[in-house]
Amino acid sequence: MLDKTLWAFTHLLHLLDPETAHELTVWSAQHRMAPSLRAFEDPILSSILWDREFINPFGLAAGFDKNGVVIDPLQRQGFGFIEIGSVTPRPQLGNPRPRLFRLPKDRAVINRMGFNNDGHGAVAARVARRQRTRVLGVNLGKNKDTVQAVTDYVAGVKVFAEIADYLVINVSSPNTPGLRALQGKSALSEILDAALTERARLGAISRPPLLLKIAPDLTGSELDDIAQVALDLGIDGLICTNTTLMRPSRLRDTKRMEDGGLSGRPLFDLSTQVLSEMYARVGKCLPLIGSGGVESGKMAYAKIRAGASLVQVYTAFIYEGPGLLNRLKRDLVGLLRADGFTSVSQAVGADHR
Ligand code: FNR
Repeated sequence: MLDKTLWAFTHLLHLLDPETAHELTVWSAQHRMAPSLRAFEDPILSSILWDREFINPFGLAAGFDKNGVVIDPLQRQGFGFIEIGSVTPRPQLGNPRPRLFRLPKDRAVINRMGFNNDGHGAVAARVARRQRTRVLGVNLGKNKDTVQAVTDYVAGVKVFAEIADYLVINVSSPNTPGLRALQGKSALSEILDAALTERARLGAISRPPLLLKIAPDLTGSELDDIAQVALDLGIDGLICTNTTLMRPSRLRDTKRMEDGGLSGRPLFDLSTQVLSEMYARVGKCLPLIGSGGVESGKMAYAKIRAGASLVQVYTAFIYEGPGLLNRLKRDLVGLLRADGFTSVSQAVGADHR
């Protein structure tokens, strides 16, 4: 019965324009009106990373709860971890609407939101008063009009280091002019070095893991540079990947030529390839989070075998709603057991062995 209600709720939302549907989803979660399912959990899915316990490897990717307004309801949905943001020092409106497009024929989304968010102060206040039942990451961005990007990331570390479980330096969103260029060796070294220095300055108690989120549209030599900087400076992990600027020729939906980042099913192969290539470079030293196109237990398992210690979802959650998580978890448990694994951690990087 509840499954049917959820199905109807998700389908009704899809009659609305995508951003209005998103706002209504967040509003109903905020007001405890969103239907929720009893979360399925299994000990085989739990793991410890960065001294933090993840009850399952499935996280909600950045961009769904940019402002940290529904952290507690999301924690109850059954995610193993939640990443909020991207958040910038000052509030900003983002790009003009429409800026979010569903491509149902391709099970994809294109967005050019442009870091619309409430700014560090408002978001930090919400993070500080959350219930600490799941791991919470804060994804840091830069304001569109900031010239010295490094100052915005350092400000983010300063504000969130003591209240977040991990931090993400996001230099891979396609909708802030010039942002992706910060993935180049010298700009990236400068930002990560400054962020790590700020974290160290804040002292031993506030030492959240610092991760870097990268784009899927990078060449082999760009991946080499990023891997080298990550290892040399000693960051704690990478998220592979953000949305793509590419438009695979198999896209069928009429919205396919909208500007922005493409996510969902058509991103899966590309993002898993980048994940795998990054694992080959840094996998022995750094945990990776896989993000991009996961909509089944089989796809999550493929990311894990390619090198992901954790897996994030977003677009599939738009299409399927909260029922997605129990399905992913059950299917992943079956796949792990069928291959003789007794813990999800054992399967990480299995395809490289
Ligand atoms: C995103 N994503 C994103 N990523 C990020 O680092 N900061 C952000 O603010 C956002 N915002 C955002 C908005 C919308 C509407 C979407 C669809 C996506 C990217 C997201 O976190 C994820 O990496 C990609 O969407 C790929 O995963 P899925 O959606 O294919 O599972």
